[in-house]
Amino acid sequence: MSIVVVPERYADKALGYKRDVDTVVRMRDYLVIGLFNTQADEASARFLSLPKGIAVHPQDGNDIETLFIEALERLRFTGTSPWVKRLWDSIKDIKNYECKDDQESRFISSTFYQFLAFLAAHPNELQYMLEDQASPDLSWVKEYIPFGIWSSPESVRPVTQADITTLFHAWHYKEKMDAKREKGKNTLRRFRNIEHLFTLPSISQEIIDLAGDTLLAASKMAGIIEKDPVLTSRILKVVNSAFYGFHRQIDSVEQAVVILGNDEVINLAFSIAIHKVLETISPQAAKRLWEHSLVVAHLSQWLGPHLSCTNKQRSYTVGLLHDLGKIVFMQRGYFIGGFEGPASLEDLASEERDSGISHAEMGAYIAERWNLPEAIVDGLMNHHLPSKARNMSLAVTVHIADVLAHCGRLDASKINTAAGKFFSESKAASISRETFSRTVENVTQRVKTILEA
Ligand SMILES: [Fe+2]
Ligand SMILES: [Fe+2]
Repeated sequence: MSIVVVPERYADKALGYKRDVDTVVRMRDYLVIGLFNTQADEASARFLSLPKGIAVHPQDGNDIETLFIEALERLRFTGTSPWVKRLWDSIKDIKNYECKDDQESRFISSTFYQFLAFLAAHPNELQYMLEDQASPDLSWVKEYIPFGIWSSPESVRPVTQADITTLFHAWHYKEKMDAKREKGKNTLRRFRNIEHLFTLPSISQEIIDLAGDTLLAASKMAGIIEKDPVLTSRILKVVNSAFYGFHRQIDSVEQAVVILGNDEVINLAFSIAIHKVLETISPQAAKRLWEHSLVVAHLSQWLGPHLSCTNKQRSYTVGLLHDLGKIVFMQRGYFIGGFEGPASLEDLASEERDSGISHAEMGAYIAERWNLPEAIVDGLMNHHLPSKARNMSLAVTVHIADVLAHCGRLDASKINTAAGKFFSESKAASISRETFSRTVENVTQRVKTILEA
């Protein structure tokens, strides 16, 4: 991949040299052309007859983000308009395509929380960038930042474009991105070796395969679950617990399936199977994380339909696994913050600084190695930045369920701005605050009864 920046007056000629696969965006007096699968020298040769064509290329073939930032720097980061986001989105698409045979890059080079935390730590500059009429539309930046941060900086002192440029230079974007990538690779290499510890119990894989099958007979499902006697007894214990409050005794999995329905039993079986993974970390931490995961799973299942996320089964699973990455890190003795509240940008940025990869990315990586459906991988990866998700309604559902579970209410300052916007335009916006608080309380109580079963 190369990027060529061509002065506008040569645009027609330049367009003649570009191929169908290449991306083109007009930006003020320039044409920015992204050349797919092309080295800089080849790009320069192709555009040789154009004066001042500027070809930049990443040192590492996959390093598109650095290239993008270099291109921005050449354009002095001025005049940022919707093209920045559009171009970035197209580059991301190409990048995803290019990294197909290198599965790990997708997780290492995805989100860059340090950059967002950096922006969030400079509310004055952020406000200036977002409000300055001369360089409008940086509004996409605020999609990535929690609502409380960009909406209410304490005091806005005059900031100039030069201040911002200096700040960005001083921050050393490229070096930090490189360090993240290097650390991320090492971390994943280390975790790959102990992957067997995190093998999804084989029964769970069968359960996942069943999940899409709506016409599944109760007996068939029961047959699969009954292959695992521990799972069977746990399921029966739970369905006979106060959580469900049935008056008569349920004594077979098949009966449980008939009464509760396929989805509910699949959720239950999946939860119990995943619980085994938690046994690899310290009992107190595991208990806390387990309870939290179950609350988020149940809240996601409840909230999903109000946010046009119709697949309840999937909301449950992503809610249940949203912090899978934390379990993996903790198992290896890494310190992971964000237990007292939903992980903040600072928490995620420090995970990235320490290991090159956040718990959201780590969870997605493990889920992919478990062959979980792409929708689940995507949901895990983006539960803290829903606007990056392919299925935004699923990511927003889990993001908000996470905030609800931690805070007991809808705390706008903890909710990502894009998620807040999505929420306010959905059916969920008409649910009263009291209903939210009451539901969280009920779910938390019910989950406690599951844990006691
Ligand atoms: Fe998380
Ligand atoms: Fe969480």
